[in-house]
Amino acid sequence: MKLVLIILFALLQHAAANVEKTIFISPQAQPPPKDASIDNLLLVPLSEGLSTLRTELEASFPTESEPHGTIHWFLLEGLQPTSRYEVRICWMATQPTSFSLHAYDVDTAFAHSGLLTSLSDYSYKRHEKLTEADEQLLHQRKASPTENSTFLFLQILAAADYYSLNDTLMTTPPPVAVDIILDRYILNVFPESLLPTGLYLMLLAAGAWFLSRWISALLVRPSSVEEVSKKTN
Ligand SMILES: *[C@@H]1O[C@H](CO)[C@@H](O)[C@H](O)[C@H]1NC(C)=O
Ligand SMILES: *[C@@H]1O[C@H](CO)[C@@H](O)[C@H](O)[C@H]1NC(C)=O
Repeated sequence: MKLVLIILFALLQHAAANVEKTIFISPQAQPPPKDASIDNLLLVPLSEGLSTLRTELEASFPTESEPHGTIHWFLLEGLQPTSRYEVRICWMATQPTSFSLHAYDVDTAFAHSGLLTSLSDYSYKRHEKLTEADEQLLHQRKASPTENSTFLFLQILAAADYYSLNDTLMTTPPPVAVDIILDRYILNVFPESLLPTGLYLMLLAAGAWFLSRWISALLVRPSSVEEVSKKTN
């Protein structure tokens, strides 16, 4: 039974090959910054109410200044304090990209000059080319409550990961279509959105176990009958 489960989970992992994720514990709730510095960053927010985002991310080949590709920043907010969460990014195999994700709490991000510079550079670029879709997302965020909340910065690094004879593709990699999914762990153990899949696999495994018992019982019976008949002869 255990073995069947392990094999099924291994298969599940394999099927979801183009997924990268980060797992983290959300911080304590804190009052929103009074100077609205987080709002001014114009980062796309993710929260439990807005937990899936389908978007396109620019990617680039690693350079000396950006060894892990293009840097993107998102805001995670309104999480349940001190709970385990994961953020997954999913993309198509036809767009080979190497993603890495990191969640930083506000104090850490603001205390490291490298992170802070990266955040403000990203924010500056967003101010320059804000689309209507972005504004809608930010508007949804404005409607969110102003009481204490949890804030985290999510950093996503996107490095193009292919080789092509086409010069255009080698100098300007096309943007990568991605789904970014925020997921809370049930009892700090199992990602909420994967629960139906997990239950399905368990049912399947249990079914397979009973079926195999039944089949092996069927197989054993005739041979034991044979043995008995041999002995009596
Ligand atoms: C908000 O957080 C601050 C500091 O952590 C705390 O002093 C205050 O009581 C909290 N307010 C509410 C309404 O929870
Ligand atoms: C190179 O790739 C670009 C973008 O996919 C495409 O538009 C262009 O036609 C390609 N060039 C050649 C020579 O295949």
